[in-house]
Amino acid sequence: MVSTVQTVAYLGLEARSVEVQCQVAPGNPKFAVVGLPDKAVAESRERVHAAISAMGLSLPPKRITVNLSPADLPKEGSHYDLPIALALLGAMGVVDAETLASYVFVGELGLDGRVATSPGVLLAALHAAERSLGLVCPASQGPEAAWAGQVEVIAAPDLLALLNHFKGSALLRPPEPGAVEPRIVGPDLAQVKGQETAKRAIEIAAAGGHNLVMVGPPGAGKSLLASCVPGILPDLTAAEALGIM
Ligand SMILES: Nc1ncnc2c1ncn2[C@@H]1O[C@H](COP(=O)(O)OP(=O)(O)OP(=O)(O)O)[C@@H](O)[C@H]1O
Ligand SMILES: [Mg+2]
Repeated sequence: MVSTVQTVAYLGLEARSVEVQCQVAPGNPKFAVVGLPDKAVAESRERVHAAISAMGLSLPPKRITVNLSPADLPKEGSHYDLPIALALLGAMGVVDAETLASYVFVGELGLDGRVATSPGVLLAALHAAERSLGLVCPASQGPEAAWAGQVEVIAAPDLLALLNHFKGSALLRPPEPGAVEPRIVGPDLAQVKGQETAKRAIEIAAAGGHNLVMVGPPGAGKSLLASCVPGILPDLTAAEALGIM
């Protein structure tokens, strides 16, 4: 039987869909990864093998083939470990196909089954949101993935915890979007002497989200007034911060 799992390939600032297909067939025991994998992806075989063994499961003594489709798209990075492991667990009948079909998986695996950080999680989360899928990512990157907004994020600390979540025996808590870095504080409107009309105009523009044009002779305080604006604006929401990124 062939089990399929969705993941992504990162191309610059874009995430492209990649399907991980896994077949377990009778034959000489072998574990092959095909579909233009780079060195890190090809090595994922060893990590997946070790991580599954660490859960107390043994790989079936059969011919295991993993294909990363589309096969002509180069696959780079270590985030294919988790989707490959899940496709294999799906083919072994440990996880059901319906559960696997509703998520995009990214994450590197440790030999002990830990799901380790892999770059690009936010891109994967945005990609999952576009496709109305959930995202399974490393626990440490849950807050980053949660920034994407409209996406169910499962931040898995290790493979076993993820399987227990899917089984419903121990649910993982959805991560909260990470905090915005404190912004650089500029001058305060209180430092501006006089200019009551200009200050009022700035307050109205900030409160209503309007545009502002400042006209005045050199040294009148236009740059000073403009640098006071961020101080009276509310903090950005996750969606707004992504929009201006
Ligand atoms: N109302 C004010 N209260 C306190 N400081 C002021 C005020 N207006 C101007 N200043 C000070 O005067 C200096 C010149 O102001 P600013 O650079 O804001 O002028 P500007 O209108 O942007 O000039 P330019 O048109 O040359 O860019 C700054 O150091 C600013 O802090
Ligand atoms: Mg100026």
